[in-house]
Amino acid sequence: MPDLIAADNLSYTYPDGSPALREVTFSVAPGEHLALLGPNGAGKSTLLLALAGLIRPEGKLLLDGEPLAHDRLGTRGRVGLLFEDPDDQLFMPTVLDDVLFGPRNQGLAYDDAHARATSALEAVGAADLADRSPHHLSLGQKRRVAIAGALAMRPQVLLLDEPLNGLDPRGRGMLLRLLGGLDQTLVIATHDLDLARRMCTMALILNEGKVATHGPTEALLSDESLLRTNALLDQ
Ligand SMILES: Nc1ncnc2c1ncn2[C@@H]1O[C@H](COP(=O)(O)OP(=O)(O)OP(=O)(O)O)[C@@H](O)[C@H]1O
Ligand SMILES: [Mg+2]
Repeated sequence: MPDLIAADNLSYTYPDGSPALREVTFSVAPGEHLALLGPNGAGKSTLLLALAGLIRPEGKLLLDGEPLAHDRLGTRGRVGLLFEDPDDQLFMPTVLDDVLFGPRNQGLAYDDAHARATSALEAVGAADLADRSPHHLSLGQKRRVAIAGALAMRPQVLLLDEPLNGLDPRGRGMLLRLLGGLDQTLVIATHDLDLARRMCTMALILNEGKVATHGPTEALLSDESLLRTNALLDQ
């Protein structure tokens, strides 16, 4: 099967001169769940921004064989991104409006978009927050709403940046079960090796913007010296 994501030699330096990605090459098969691992500052979030079409790295990036479109809506909804910081994602006056925004922008009629938004909020256990202002929620509540917003677009590829941060154990269990049931392609940036093990058959370790290793999660995570070198184990 052809690759769904093909990244060839991606490099990116932020406008202030900080290098973030250096010649990153990898691919993701349709339906694959890929864990993106590596130390703080390795370039994981930057790579997700590139895959979502929100920054434009040097190199070649293909989605389903086509060059990735660059637009604020994450390539017209084919790619959905859960930002590392939910405050970067939530901007509408109410939670429901926020979750409706994506599907409405994909051109769905209000009733259809509303049905999707409601079921996404239910799936993350946040249906009771629908009328609240996103900015007055707790961190875990914000993250649930941001996840609902990404799910409501039903993107072909779902990019998740530290999805479990701030969730209570029940929220964590809910999200793990939810993600486990998705047949979409997932790329999950995380420091949570349990999440990587449970959700992702493949893993890519970034270090200083470069690919350190790419392979089956089980094999990578059982290599203690590899984990130590990449700050995935203490000492
Ligand atoms: N907006 C920005 N402007 C300038 N430099 C940035 C910006 N965002 C990130 N960087 C730099 O780019 C590099 C990669 O950062 P990135 O946020 O992608 O790392 P990360 O792997 O997601 O780290 P973490 O595990 O802490 O989330 C770091 O050196 C960081 O300081
Ligand atoms: Mg990050």
